[in-house]
Amino acid sequence: MKHKILIADDEQKIRRVVELLLAEAGYETLEAANGAEALEKVSLHHPHLVLLDYNMPQMTGLEVLEAVKKLPGSPLVVMMTAFGSVTLAVEAIRKGAYDFIEKPFDNDKLLLTVGRALQHATLQEEVGELRKKVSNMEHSEVIVGESEGLRNVMQRVKMVAPTDATVLLTGESGTGKELVARSIFQMSNRSLNPFLTINCGAIPAALIESELFGHEKGAFTDAREAHAGTFERAHTGTLFLDEVGELPLDAQVKLLRVLEDRKITRVGGKKAVNTDVRIVAATNRDLEELVASGRFRADLFYRLNVFSIALPPLRQRADDIALLAAHFINKYNRLLNTRVKGLSGDALDKMVAYAWPGNIRELANAIQSALILTQEGTIEVPALPSKVRSAAATEATVEQAVTIKEAGSMAEKELIAATLQKNQGSRTHTATELGISRKTLFNKMKRYNLL
Ligand SMILES: Nc1ncnc2c1ncn2[C@@H]1O[C@H](COP(=O)(O)OP(=O)(O)OP(=O)(O)O)[C@@H](O)[C@H]1O
Ligand SMILES: [Mg+2]
Repeated sequence: MKHKILIADDEQKIRRVVELLLAEAGYETLEAANGAEALEKVSLHHPHLVLLDYNMPQMTGLEVLEAVKKLPGSPLVVMMTAFGSVTLAVEAIRKGAYDFIEKPFDNDKLLLTVGRALQHATLQEEVGELRKKVSNMEHSEVIVGESEGLRNVMQRVKMVAPTDATVLLTGESGTGKELVARSIFQMSNRSLNPFLTINCGAIPAALIESELFGHEKGAFTDAREAHAGTFERAHTGTLFLDEVGELPLDAQVKLLRVLEDRKITRVGGKKAVNTDVRIVAATNRDLEELVASGRFRADLFYRLNVFSIALPPLRQRADDIALLAAHFINKYNRLLNTRVKGLSGDALDKMVAYAWPGNIRELANAIQSALILTQEGTIEVPALPSKVRSAAATEATVEQAVTIKEAGSMAEKELIAATLQKNQGSRTHTATELGISRKTLFNKMKRYNLL
C-alpha cells in the first residue's frame, strides 16, 4: 500500500521540495497552503501522515494540530518547526503530534522521521484491527436463541447468577453448558474476580487432587515446588467443574469435604485454609444413573445439585436453528474471510429436519465447512454435510445410523472432493486450503477413491 502524506506549509517552495523528495521515495503526496485547506484535505483524503508547518498565517500549526486530532481516525502529525524552537516542539508533542523536525532539514533526516512515523501508524492500525477482532469475538459469545427451551434456561440463569448458590448444568455434549457457566459468572457479583475451569475428565486421576487442591513441596516424587490448586486460585471467584461426572471416587470424597466446610488442605499439607469459591459444575452424563451404579457419590450429587439447569438438546429447540445458523455465518465469515449472506430455504429445511446429535457445536462446524465451500452468496443444500443433507431420509429410516467415525470419514471425503473441485484439481492449493500436507492429501484421496 502506498502511504499518503499531506504537506501543509504556506511557502510554496518548501512544499515543492518536500513533495519531490517524498514522491521520489515512493509516497503519495497532497498539498495544503494554509490551515483551513489542510483540515479540508485531511477529512477528504484521509492521509496517513501530515507534515505540518508551525508558522502559518490565519490558523497556526498548533491550532490545526488540535483540530486534526479531533477528526475521526485522525492521521499522525509531524510538526515542522523553525530551528531552535524546541519549546514549541515540545508543546506540539504534548498536544498530540507524533514527532517534530526542525527547519531547515536535511533530506535523510526528513525521510527517516517520516518512515518512523508511518511505521508507527501501521502498527497502530494493526492494533486497532486486532482489538476490533477481539471485541467481536468476545461479543459473539452471546447466547443465541428464542425458543421456549432456551428462554427457560436464561430465566433460571438470571435468577441464580447473583446468588452464590452452587449450580449444576446438565445436557448433551455441545448444548452450551460451558457458555452458560461463563454467563452465570459474568452476571454474578463475582464477575471481576477470577473464573477458573477444571476439566475433570481431562486430567489423569493421579493428578486431579493436586490440580484441585494444590500440593506442598515434596508431597510426592514430582512435587519439587509447592503449587496452589485451582480452588485456591479461584478464591473470591468462580470455579467451573467441567465433566464433573468423570471425577474419580477418591477425589469425590475430598471435593465433598471442601464443599462442606469450605476449607482446603493442599496435598501433603497440614494447614487448612478458608476459601470463598462459587461452584458451577457441568456434566453430559446422567449423574443419577452414575449414583445408582455406584460410580458417583450420592452425597456429592446432592451437594452439587442445589440448583440445576438442564440444557435442552438442539432437536428440541428447532426454532433456534435459523437464528443460530445466522449467528455462526456472521461469526465465521469474519474469521474465514468469506462473504456468505445466508442459507437458501431448502438448506434451512434440511437443517431443521436434521437431529443434531452433536448439538450446537455440530451446527457451528457444519456452518464453518459450508462457508468454506460456498465462499460468497447463499449456502445451498450441496454445501451441507452429507448427514444433514440426507436428514429427511434418515428420519424415516433410523436404521441408517452411522458411527461417528464413519460420519467423520464421509464428511472428510466430501470436503476433500469439494475443495479439489473448487481448486480445479490442484492438490497443492487443496492441501494448503485444508491445512494438510500434500502427502496426507494424497493418502486420503487414495483411501477415498478420489484419485
Ligand atoms: N445458544 C448458543 N448461542 C451461541 N453459541 C452457542 C450456544 N450454545 C452453544 N454455543 C456454542 O457452541 C459450542 C459448544 O458449546 P459448549 O462448549 O458450551 O457446549 P458444552 O455443553 O460444554 O459441550 P460438551 O459437553 O461437549 O463440553 C461453543 O462454541 C458455544 O459457544
Ligand atoms: Mg463443555
